[in-house]
Amino acid sequence: VNIPLVNLKRLWEQHADEWTAALVRVASSTRYIGGPEVESFERAYAEFEGAEHCVGLASGTDAVQLALIAAGVKPGDEVITVSNTFAATVEGIIHAGARPVFVDVTDDTLLVDVDAVEAAVGERTRAVLPVHLSGRPADLARLEKICDAHGIALVQDAAQAQGATFGGKPIASYGVATAYSFFPGKNLGAFGDAGGVVTNDAAVAAKLRKLRDHGRTGKYDHDEIGYNARLDPLHAAVLASKVTYLRAWNDRRRAVAGKYRELLGDSVRIVDEQRDAAEVYHHFMIRVPARDALQRALADAGVATGIHYPIPCHLLRAFAGFGYREGDLPVTERAAGEILSLPIDPTITDDEIAYVAEQVRANT
Ligand SMILES: Cc1ncc(COP(=O)(O)O)c(C=O)c1O
Repeated sequence: VNIPLVNLKRLWEQHADEWTAALVRVASSTRYIGGPEVESFERAYAEFEGAEHCVGLASGTDAVQLALIAAGVKPGDEVITVSNTFAATVEGIIHAGARPVFVDVTDDTLLVDVDAVEAAVGERTRAVLPVHLSGRPADLARLEKICDAHGIALVQDAAQAQGATFGGKPIASYGVATAYSFFPGKNLGAFGDAGGVVTNDAAVAAKLRKLRDHGRTGKYDHDEIGYNARLDPLHAAVLASKVTYLRAWNDRRRAVAGKYRELLGDSVRIVDEQRDAAEVYHHFMIRVPARDALQRALADAGVATGIHYPIPCHLLRAFAGFGYREGDLPVTERAAGEILSLPIDPTITDDEIAYVAEQVRANT
């Protein structure tokens, strides 16, 4: 038995002809930067997320950083976020010139504690950056209310949440800008690094288009200091094909999660779904006190697992300069030692799900 966390090989085998054709189309066009492949994916993805604009970028990390800058975050500002996220969330804040202010999560969902956000808003707060961990949206309705009341920006890290909705609306309809990653293992993944920002604000979209392309207004005319953060046409072509399947893939992920819930029953604690949300199960997370032993036993049984994430960002050496200590975010810290992500992707078979669930039950 060999069940990977995400079976990219099987996905490739199911679509090899189509994606080879897309790659060859771009290669033979010799249009390797920008152009119609990028624009057509951007239109398709904006529509998929129920929004007006998508700006394709070189990575999700760029998406977080540039979304914050386009939303008005400036050096010296503070941005409130969570600590149980991938380091890129925090890098985005820091590279935008701002200071990360970490708040804890709620024990049931491991998503941002909205009361803690409210308490953390201060004079320097410029934005709130919730992270939709494992494809489960944070409480966007309450977050938007708080941001509006304080005149600060709501920017979302939706790297893991392509296609998720909250309160019956696409997540991108909340706040100023929503950042996505198209890292290969994401629900919508490129064949390398890629990302994008979705927004309903034309001025924000225009700013992002300028920032990603060296701040230029013409071929050799630059009116601000920008970046080289463009989405490559090769990736755009593959993403444009993949996005046509994304709704069905997300449905399959929900069905897989439903099967896991049914088969695991009460044998382990499953991280709760968010109320009012349609989640997209980028990961399927359980919580077990003897997590490391279970992970080893599953590996021995041929089941790959992941930990998202083992060290909370506020305790990473890279971010030590911000003055956080062990004990500052107790819910986050406790969860980091207990969470485990089980294999999930659109290609996993019912037999594989049953085997994983059986191994979890046998080893807890
Ligand atoms: C929550 C979160 N934010 C940001 C990123 C950064 O995205 P990328 O790897 O595309 O730069 C990722 C994924 O890698 C992520 O999971």
